[in-house]
Amino acid sequence: MTIFSVQSTIFTRASLAILSTNGLKRFSFASSFSSNALYSSPLPKTKKRRFPIVSAVDIGGVTIARNDVVRDDDPTNNVPDSIFSKLGMQLHRRDKHPLGILKNAIYDYFDSNYAKQFEKFEDLSPIVTTKQNFDDVLVPADHVSRSLNDTYYVDSETVLRCHTSAHQAELLRDGHRRFLVTGDVYRRDSIDSTHYPVFHQMEGFCVFSPEDWNESGKDSTLYAAEDLKKCLEGLARHLFGGVEMRWVDTYFPFTEPSFELEIYFKEDWLEVLGCGVTEQRILKQSGLENNVAWAFGLGLERLAMVLFDIPDIRLFWSDDERFTSQFKKGELGVKFKPFSKYPPCYKDISFWISESFTENNFCEVVRGIAGDLVEEVKLIDSFTNKKGMTSHCYRIVFRSMERSLTDEEVNDLQSKVRDEVQRKLNVELR
Ligand code: DAH
Repeated sequence: MTIFSVQSTIFTRASLAILSTNGLKRFSFASSFSSNALYSSPLPKTKKRRFPIVSAVDIGGVTIARNDVVRDDDPTNNVPDSIFSKLGMQLHRRDKHPLGILKNAIYDYFDSNYAKQFEKFEDLSPIVTTKQNFDDVLVPADHVSRSLNDTYYVDSETVLRCHTSAHQAELLRDGHRRFLVTGDVYRRDSIDSTHYPVFHQMEGFCVFSPEDWNESGKDSTLYAAEDLKKCLEGLARHLFGGVEMRWVDTYFPFTEPSFELEIYFKEDWLEVLGCGVTEQRILKQSGLENNVAWAFGLGLERLAMVLFDIPDIRLFWSDDERFTSQFKKGELGVKFKPFSKYPPCYKDISFWISESFTENNFCEVVRGIAGDLVEEVKLIDSFTNKKGMTSHCYRIVFRSMERSLTDEEVNDLQSKVRDEVQRKLNVELR
C-alpha cells in the first residue's frame, strides 16, 4: 500500500485501486486561532464551538471572505467553517514551529547544494482552479481525487488545492525553471493520529536544457532521473543523517518514470516522498518541448513527526505553550516530550447506511462537532441483513491533548454527533 500514512501522495496506482473500492483511509481535525485571521462577532453563548467562526482570512495580503468560500447557495460547495478557519494559518511560515523548522532545513540543503538557484514560493493561495489542481498536471477526468468525497470544492471549478503540484504549470508558464513550493493542502479524509484534513507539502521542480545532458552522453530522461535521485538522497541524508534508503517504482499521472523514496527508520521502511521525471506534455504546455525536468512532492507533517517524535498530527495545530515552547528556530530534530496523556473516552454509534453514505462525510460531521477533541474514528463492525440493509458501527475516540474531558462534555458531543449524523447523512440510527 503506497498511500502515505501521514498524507503525502495520493496519485499512486495502488491508491487508485484502493480508493475506488470506497474503502478509503486517510485524515483528522482542528481549532486554533490565527494571528492573521479576522473574526466575526462572538456566537451566542448557547452555541459552543470547537473552532472559531471566522468571517474572513488573509492569505498573502488578500482578504478572503467566509461567504465566498463556505457557501449554502452552491450544491458543489463542501467547505465547512472548520476548514475555512485554517486558510491563511500558514504553519510552514512560522520559524519556531516544527513545520517551519523543517522547511528551513530543506531550504538550507537546496541553497548550499544548488547555489541558491531554487526560487521559493510559500505564499501562493491554496484556492485554485480545477484546471490547476487536476488538468494541468494530467490527472484523468475520472480520477477518484476529483470527487466531492475527496476534495474540498468552493464551486464546480474552484477547489482547495489537494497538492502543491497544482502550481507547477503556472510557475513554468511564468518562466520559473527551478523552484520549491511550500503550502497547506486540503483533503477530505478519515480520522486518526496521522491524518488531518489540512497538511503541508513541499514541491520541488527542476528544468534542464540540452546542454545539461548532452555533455553527459546520457539520454535526457535517464540524466534527469539520476540527478533527481542524487538530489533527494542527499536531502534525506541532510535531514536524517546516515540512513538506509531505497527507491520504489510507482505511478503518478504527472511523471514517467515515477518513484517513491523510502528510508529505514525505527525498524521499518517509511515512504517519505513521491517524485519522477515530468511528463513531456506538461513541459510542452509551457513551451518547453526541448527540455526535460524532474519534480518531487513531500509531506512535511510525515517527516516532522519522525524527526521531532511528534505522536499526533493534531499537535501541529496546538497553541498550547507546552507544545510550542519545545521548538527553537533552526533546531531540527529536537525530540518532543509529551506533556501528559489524558484518558481517552470511547463512544460507539451504529446506523443503517444509505447508498450515498461515505466514511469521509461521517468523519467531517464528527470533526465539525468535536474539532480536535476527536482522536480517531474507526469502523468496528459492518454487516448486511437479509433485506440488503447495511449497518455500520463506528467507535469514536474522544481525547484532548491538553486536558481531561468530563463525562458530561463527551456525552454532549456524542449526542450532537447522533443528531447531526441523522440530519445530514440520511442514515437511520440503531
Ligand atoms: N502531488 C503528489 C501527491 O500529492 C506528490 C508528487 C509526486 C509530486 C510526484 C510530484 C511528483 O511533483 O513528481 O500525491
